[in-house]
Amino acid sequence: MMSSDAMEPRIVVLASGSGSNLQALIENTQSVGFPGRIVAVGCNRPGAFALERAEQAGIETFLVDHQQYSSREDFDRQLRQTIDRYSPDLLVLAGFMRILTPDFVRAFHCRMLNIHPSLLPKYRGLNTHQRALDDGEPLHGVTVHFVTEELDGGPLIAQAEVSVDPQDTAASLAEKVRAKEHLLYPIVVRWFCEGRLKLAGNQVRFDDLPLREALRLPVDLNS
Ligand code: GAR
Repeated sequence: MMSSDAMEPRIVVLASGSGSNLQALIENTQSVGFPGRIVAVGCNRPGAFALERAEQAGIETFLVDHQQYSSREDFDRQLRQTIDRYSPDLLVLAGFMRILTPDFVRAFHCRMLNIHPSLLPKYRGLNTHQRALDDGEPLHGVTVHFVTEELDGGPLIAQAEVSVDPQDTAASLAEKVRAKEHLLYPIVVRWFCEGRLKLAGNQVRFDDLPLREALRLPVDLNS
């Protein structure tokens, strides 16, 4: 149990777009008793709404515009230097749509989380909702995982499911999944901040026990 603000885990969130997951994280971390604090929000796209959300919440922001860098390595180096200024205990990717270099990933090993809109290992990459529909999946959902060098391939932590209904479109499915994301991500971030969630080697440990498979959370808007 952390005893003072100074001891609270420091969280940096990276986002690229609308930042609805960021908003859910802001609301949770700013509620009384949350065991961690967002110290900065970073973005790679000028004008992204995520930046505005952070500013409105009184959180420091930074922009590292990927278009200003001639290589992925240069961009990642600058991003890493900027993040390091905030000495984060946890780096949270919340719709951060950049592939990160191995050096960057190694620098934040064991302390970087990502949220991905599918039941990984199914549907890594983009257009997950349409691909799930095209395959006639009865279930779809969201996964939170530790980030490793393998794109969308890091050790799984937790998942939440949605049913795929006959009338679903990619847009309606995205909306259902997004609602689950907003509930699931703050829960996992809280676990990390409480010290309940760790990555040891390539093994997720939860409450000091190895996690054999992703936790399936029945996060429900109505509960
Ligand atoms: C979310 O659906 C998130 O799962 C996805 O981007 C969206 C961001 O929405 N992330 C990825 O696809 C990462 N591979 P938001 O900006 O409203 O939070």
